Amino acid sequence: MAPEDIISKLKESMDEGRFKHSLGVMETSLILARRYGANAKKAELAGLIHDCARDVPFDAQLKMAENFGILLDDIQKQEPVLIHGPLGAEIARNDFGINDEEILNAVRLHTTGDKNMTLLEKIIYISDYIEPGRCFPGVEDLRVKAFKDLEEALTSAFDSTIRYVIKSHRLLHPRTVSARNFILLHKGREERT
Ligand SMILES: [Fe+2]
Ligand SMILES: [Fe+2]
Repeated sequence: MAPEDIISKLKESMDEGRFKHSLGVMETSLILARRYGANAKKAELAGLIHDCARDVPFDAQLKMAENFGILLDDIQKQEPVLIHGPLGAEIARNDFGINDEEILNAVRLHTTGDKNMTLLEKIIYISDYIEPGRCFPGVEDLRVKAFKDLEEALTSAFDSTIRYVIKSHRLLHPRTVSARNFILLHKGREERT
């Protein structure tokens, strides 16, 4: 699918705010890809498409995930906001014709993170957090950090997510804990390719 077609199809599948957010993540991913030497085209496309399943109603997301054969764990079933990552990867492949596994994995992981993330996965995760439309206390510091030290920014983002989930008495996905611990254990080493 041509990039313009992807953009117009995406626009139809989400509300206006989400579409703006998607463009913001695309823009931030591109800048970070240039900063850290990731593939700019892949970063742009992954950033654009990452929330393609986000505005599908939760009950439909559950059904679609089942139809795609996505195995959901108990935490994803209890916290359905986590489903749009893995589901988004399948929708990106099936409805938007995106077959690049690196892009699809970045979409898949953007809700929880995971241990041993690739550079592209890290860029999408943090861009989702700091794109220009995001507004929360500390976002400016996190933006600066993301351009200085990607791993430090990611650790801060995981810390905030974990604190938020605990404060809201919600279920914390173990992949988010693994993602945070992996960075602390392996700081400064090369990403998986
Ligand atoms: Fe998302
Ligand atoms: Fe997002």
